[in-house]
Amino acid sequence: MSVAVVAIAALGLTACATGTDTDSPATDSETTAAEETTAAEGGAGGEVGVFTWWADGSEKEGLDALVEVFNEKFPNDTFVNLAVAGGAGTNAKAKLASDLENGNPPDSFQGHAGAELMDYIVKDQILPVNDVIDALGGSSVFPQDLLDRITVEGNIYSVPSNIHRANVVWANPSVLEAAGVTETPADIDAWIADMEKVKASGVETPITIGGTWTQVHLFETILIADLGPDDYAGLFDGSTAWDSDGVKTAVEHFETILGYANNASDGDDWVAPTDAVIDGTAAYNVMGDWAVAQFNSRDQVDGEDYIYFPVPGTDGIFDFLADSFTLPKGAPNEAGAKDWLMTAGSAEGQKAFNLKKGSIPARIDVPADDFPAYQQSAMESFKQDTIASSIAHGAAVPLAWLDDISTATAKFYSSKDGDTYVADLVAAAQKALG
Ligand code: GAL
Repeated sequence: MSVAVVAIAALGLTACATGTDTDSPATDSETTAAEETTAAEGGAGGEVGVFTWWADGSEKEGLDALVEVFNEKFPNDTFVNLAVAGGAGTNAKAKLASDLENGNPPDSFQGHAGAELMDYIVKDQILPVNDVIDALGGSSVFPQDLLDRITVEGNIYSVPSNIHRANVVWANPSVLEAAGVTETPADIDAWIADMEKVKASGVETPITIGGTWTQVHLFETILIADLGPDDYAGLFDGSTAWDSDGVKTAVEHFETILGYANNASDGDDWVAPTDAVIDGTAAYNVMGDWAVAQFNSRDQVDGEDYIYFPVPGTDGIFDFLADSFTLPKGAPNEAGAKDWLMTAGSAEGQKAFNLKKGSIPARIDVPADDFPAYQQSAMESFKQDTIASSIAHGAAVPLAWLDDISTATAKFYSSKDGDTYVADLVAAAQKALG
């Protein structure tokens, strides 16, 4: 199996069921016969240790909401929170890798659908969960294209709990108004011109940034803007060169934009840069839509206190990632782990979790009306837009390649040496693709 081939499998435009299973999907109140055979009445019993990086703030609120559904569905089980703090799994992934290597897996862990999951499959660290996916309704409730990203040789290796969008600019409308910025910029150059206006109005840092993973996150969205979705996808199968003109333009844009941002330390996470937009000390932040949960938890009103739009130049493109939960080989409580997976994949679990998390359900049968305006707009975009895969969040590249891109990005952040950055990105791609 080629990891790269699996990684770039395009998530098509259809968010509709394409499978042959014509059974109607289970609703909140119904339990299918298959669900009953997968999850024992009241649950398997015992402790169920679940590993994530949703340790604080709005991310923890999302996890807590899912745990509440788990506790209701499976009162025999005891949830054990094994979360390790650090946005995008900065600290968690290293701990997880050593736990898996040392034969000390949790009962379930969070992994991104796509290339990241393939790492665990190739290392034989996770087991197929076809029975759980079937019990949940299979392709009658999950988009087939999403299932394809978690399937290898007919085996499905995780249960997707959500879909996040990465290419979102979160902005403070009062700061923009004071700077005379009245329109949404059409491309990166127009956006940079707006940053200049914001700076001239007296705002020291028009855009905010955090540590390395947030820089990779911003850079990937600029790559999408400057390359377009097809050439961007080509970066991951070798059909687009990492030293092509489009990448070089993106590196220049990235450097210019960093010139309008605060100085960040490597460990800085995403919440403070989001808070700076809320507090009006900055106009913009580019972050995945887990940020909307932070706006909500600080009682910000959509459209009044904050606005959002796709990163300029990426309108009509949905930069995608999906959190999913796995069944590690050697999980201490495999039956309890399946209870957790049944919860994460249920309509009820996905509604509770995603309402707090800012993402949209991976399932297609959770009514949009139950969600606030931002998430409804994300659901619409996901149906219509061209889908791109996130680099920073495991959809486009395996962990080792992401590590190399992150190292190159951290180096560039200090040196601002674009030629070396491009050379490092080329070397990273060569190493990964052979
Ligand atoms: C992503 C993850 C999201 C969110 C984000 C920031 O990798 O998929 O759910 O947690 O990191 O921590």
